[in-house]
Amino acid sequence: MSQRPVILTGITTTGTPHLGNYVGAIRPAITASHRRDVQPFYFLADYHALIKCQEPERVQRSTLEIAATWLALGLDTDNAVFYRQSDVPEITELTWLLQCVTAKGLMNRAHAYKAAVQANADSGEPDPDAGVSMGLFSYPVLMAADILMFNAAKVPVGKDQVQHLEMARDIAGRFNRTYGDHFVLPEAVVDEHTALLSGLDGRKMSKSYDNVIPIFLAPGPMEKLIKKIKTNSLEPGVPKDPETCTLFSIYRAVATPEQTAAMRERYAAGIGWGEMKKALFEYLEQHLGAARARYDALMLEPARIEQVLLQGAHRAREVATPFLQRLRRSVGIRPLAVK
Ligand code: TRP
Repeated sequence: MSQRPVILTGITTTGTPHLGNYVGAIRPAITASHRRDVQPFYFLADYHALIKCQEPERVQRSTLEIAATWLALGLDTDNAVFYRQSDVPEITELTWLLQCVTAKGLMNRAHAYKAAVQANADSGEPDPDAGVSMGLFSYPVLMAADILMFNAAKVPVGKDQVQHLEMARDIAGRFNRTYGDHFVLPEAVVDEHTALLSGLDGRKMSKSYDNVIPIFLAPGPMEKLIKKIKTNSLEPGVPKDPETCTLFSIYRAVATPEQTAAMRERYAAGIGWGEMKKALFEYLEQHLGAARARYDALMLEPARIEQVLLQGAHRAREVATPFLQRLRRSVGIRPLAVK
């Protein structure tokens, strides 16, 4: 494998990819998958999925859908290493080595854990840890292993993940101080420019609000969903404010700046809501239609996707296997005849 700096990111396999994922994470990652000045690693974080989701069918289905989505949208798998976390057992092995240098107090401060404790307090639950699994509690360590396994320098993530990157640096630093300089300290890369996408109800598009638009919804249901988006009651011909409009925010997130400027003028000229909904639907169709055809074809051939992922895991393990060997030795897990 090349010596280019590694950029790495993971996608938890618990849902169907939606337009918010598309503009926030998938599209920039696919663009970066072509870069030759860095070595991209992208993986399906299926062990992370088990923390939130104990429905086996859903974990498997989501893994398939996410992989098909990324491939259909043009991920460059010759350049980027694209794999499933669970196909690289070195990652879970490394997790244990890291657990043993991670302060429990550090994990006490993790946002996801603190939110769970807070929710218990708010609901009058006397046990602060009710419903908290060790998976949830120690999940930043698994995430640190994902990153440190490949000595990733840059990790593109959403704002909510920045704390986990700080924890990964902290854990890497402790390991390095204890056992020698093995890990690069990773940095979060948060793209401030990616559009925040509104969902069907105007709140941020998010699985947890149940207001998402799946990327590859068939045209019929897609049109129906767009028709359901709430607008105000202004008549056609009356100038409208694009900034407070969910339809516009979705259009802008996907369209180019020029197309967005042109649409802004149509708002000023009083575009009718029916017309705008039609324009948004047609725009999405034009932008994503060809990729949807590829997606539908891929979904019918899971074995082909499996093949791509296994190839990715093979490349990932070319790095992980020797590196883990070195790490095991560094902590004293060694053949007895070796000093
Ligand atoms: N926890 C991340 C999320 O919820 C997904 C993830 C898992 C990840 N492992 C990672 C992201 C490693 C970056 C690097 O979005």
